[in-house]
Amino acid sequence: MTDHHEPVPFMDLVTPHREMEEELLEVVRQALRSARFVGGPQLEGFEEEFADFCEAPFCVGLSNGTDALRLALIAAGVGPGDAVITVPFTFFATVEAIWQAGAAVEWVDIDLSTFNMCPARLEQLCRDQCRRQDDGRLVSLRSGRTVKAIVPVHLYGQPADMDAILDVARSNGLMVVEDAAQAHGARYCSKQHQGWKRAGSMGLAGSFSFYPGKNLGACGEAGALITQDAELARKARMLRDHGQPEKYFHQMEGYNARLDAIQAGFLRIKLRRLEEWNRQRRRLAKRYDQLLEGIDEVVTPSEPSWAQSVYHLYVIRASRRDALARRLAEDGISTGLHYPLPLHLQKACAHLGCKEGDFPASEQAARQVLSLPFYPGMLPEQQERVVGLVREFAASPTVLTGTRP
Ligand SMILES: Cc1ncc(COP(=O)(O)O)c(C=O)c1O
Repeated sequence: MTDHHEPVPFMDLVTPHREMEEELLEVVRQALRSARFVGGPQLEGFEEEFADFCEAPFCVGLSNGTDALRLALIAAGVGPGDAVITVPFTFFATVEAIWQAGAAVEWVDIDLSTFNMCPARLEQLCRDQCRRQDDGRLVSLRSGRTVKAIVPVHLYGQPADMDAILDVARSNGLMVVEDAAQAHGARYCSKQHQGWKRAGSMGLAGSFSFYPGKNLGACGEAGALITQDAELARKARMLRDHGQPEKYFHQMEGYNARLDAIQAGFLRIKLRRLEEWNRQRRRLAKRYDQLLEGIDEVVTPSEPSWAQSVYHLYVIRASRRDALARRLAEDGISTGLHYPLPLHLQKACAHLGCKEGDFPASEQAARQVLSLPFYPGMLPEQQERVVGLVREFAASPTVLTGTRP
């Protein structure tokens, strides 16, 4: 039992590492004794095991999720002069990776009920805001650039509607690269692929982040891409290692974007537990759904029948979001905001000339989302305490703040 007044953390990264400490330390010992710090059997082992887990033919271990998306795009042939379509409601790294591949970004709004790319709006963007050249290429009317690819983001662990997105991509000659940074192991029931497919495995490539708080997290920085395309995998392997297929023989300008052996070894140990952690996350999410039922002010996450989310985060929408977060904080309950400002309104995107009202669903999401405390190992009584306070808050009248006239 927990003390009624004990703080509830947003996530717990200490307990699972304590449980795995000996196994993790053994990875470090092996690395010190063999001096295999970069590349080698740990990296190859992880790549094989993660590819199997994702049911994808190839995996390339990389330094982090931003590099994974950037290198996936570059290896797919995206470069200067191109444009890439993505959503404004995602972590900033999605657009950084597009820019750093040399491309411009074109935004398409999300569907508020899933927080993911809206396929109808995507279709509309390709139809109404682009023109088709004689050579069949799609060109953005806004930027004048050739649209090459779509990057759907599987936000909070829930897959985007991939069949519909792949349909639009096919009919417009676009590639799809999935940003699966938050969706390790999520599944999408694909009619096109005739069954349940893992996030990241349906497009030409998919990128993952293993930042420590992710469903599969390293003990430091790490990432990977998966792909069905042997040539893309070969190029990405070269790009991560200074463009050299063979030491000191460089075929192209590359990067230093390698995954180190110790992180790969840590990830192999954690990968064995990922299915169980994801199952726990799904159970905890269903429990939150039940406990929050009937609280009118709160909208719980909706999971379409074709999606199996791995609930990287448990995110509700609430009209008095900021006041609710403050009330929970007063009682020692930590929450998160993912994300408070959509990308098209960020200072870093000002040069794109977007304004408030351009992407209303993303803007509404940014105003209303609240990530509740959520992690494998969270106790039922902790969930009850969180929801008890949310219920109490929802029953309280709105307190008007500001100076009196
Ligand atoms: C949606 C999304 N894309 C990309 C990234 C970038 O991953 P990393 O932090 O490993 O570079 C993240 C990480 O938080 C993410 O959430």
